[in-house]
Amino acid sequence: MILALEHNTLAILLNLINNISMSKPITIKNKIKNFKKKISVEGDKSLSIRFALLASQALGKSKAYNLLRSEDVLNTLKCLKKLGISIKLTRKYCQIQGNGLNSYVYKNNLTLNAGNSGTAARLICSTLLNSTKEIKITGDNSLQKRDMKRIIEPLEKFGASFKRNKGTLPLFIKGSNLIKPINYQEVLGSAQCKSAVMLGALISAPGITKLKCKPSRNHTELLFKHLKIPIKIKKTKKFDYIQIRGKHNFKSFNYKIPSDISSAAFFLVLTLLSKDSQLIIKNVNINPTRTGIISILNMMGAKILLLNKRKYKGELIANIFVKSKKNLKAINCNKKLNSTAIDEMLLLFLVSSVAKGVSTYKGLEELNKKESKRLDWGFKILKMIGIKTKKISNHGIKIYGKPNLKLKKKYIIKNYLKDHRIFMVCVVAAMVLGGEWKIYNPESIKTSFPSFLQVIKKLGGKLN
Ligand code: S3P
Repeated sequence: MILALEHNTLAILLNLINNISMSKPITIKNKIKNFKKKISVEGDKSLSIRFALLASQALGKSKAYNLLRSEDVLNTLKCLKKLGISIKLTRKYCQIQGNGLNSYVYKNNLTLNAGNSGTAARLICSTLLNSTKEIKITGDNSLQKRDMKRIIEPLEKFGASFKRNKGTLPLFIKGSNLIKPINYQEVLGSAQCKSAVMLGALISAPGITKLKCKPSRNHTELLFKHLKIPIKIKKTKKFDYIQIRGKHNFKSFNYKIPSDISSAAFFLVLTLLSKDSQLIIKNVNINPTRTGIISILNMMGAKILLLNKRKYKGELIANIFVKSKKNLKAINCNKKLNSTAIDEMLLLFLVSSVAKGVSTYKGLEELNKKESKRLDWGFKILKMIGIKTKKISNHGIKIYGKPNLKLKKKYIIKNYLKDHRIFMVCVVAAMVLGGEWKIYNPESIKTSFPSFLQVIKKLGGKLN
């Protein structure tokens, strides 16, 4: 529906998305039948948001094709519009007119609302270090519970000031004309945190900013390299060392956003756990910092293949082939893989619940800091479907798999923070395990994957 609109304004698009009436829960009573199909999923969310922010700072008009039209991305565009950036969104592309570093023009007492998006809230702050009129940043109920200290700390070090409420949103940020480069150590393995420092350095800090960070998704680094922004990267076993020379203007650029592996992941697991099915998912971003889900599933016995691998502006892209697999085996998941599969952990818990043996996942403190407490949700959902679990301190889970698990009861999922990934993982569970499910908050998919239910239907999934 959204994509059928030609030459639309952002406001109309957002209203339309908001008006899609999906407030009623969905009911699933039947497992999905076997299928053999080729599908596409929507554009990568991390790349869509990074494209928009970088394009807003470039010199000239940048265009992205296949930009994700989800609320997280549209909220990012809406914030940029409020900062005076002109944006044209058509059926085919998103065009952003950048006027160089620090060229935002905005009124007094501005409020920017990032909706549900941690990436948008955190990264937008990092573009405001030289913006000397105070700006309020806020978000929805879920985002207002999330930690902002992780970016406040480095951005204060650069020289920005914050008025904050316990390090959460809403907060007020005030930039300065005296922003200085920093040396910073990022310890969470958070790409948002790393990218906030990188963007802050690029846009506002003359001189060399040095960053030592735990490895995490590296889209920002790849984009910086593609845009010839002065960046040096050295990798060791434990840390990445990044240096950026700030205040370097760069030219506008075009970008074809590949599909999001975090969206594709729902269909990898759906196919793997369905009977006699096969699926190809086209043009997926298989950046190795994002493909933990594939590595882990293959270690559990899946045979997921990457076909027609190619490089695009530093990113790796492929068509992914997956087929059903019985007799999956449990995994003792190496903590090093956590950041490469952080958004897919609940799907992995689901696979572990039908794998043979006891699976172990550790070092997942960050999982309870997402759109909702996803580690806690993992325990809740698995308990509900009769899977034994054990807590490992406050950061891990042991899952006692039941390879012949077949559900027959009624299951109700109500999730007041409306976490999109919880909704989608429950739909996949219902489609492959049976039982009768009532899952609330289908509207949550608008955050990252508005066409999720359409793709489920395309594969033959029945829902009301
Ligand atoms: C993202 C990074 C990850 C991920 C989020 C998107 C990004 O968060 O969970 O969905 O685009 O940089 P952290 O960086 O906080 O781990």
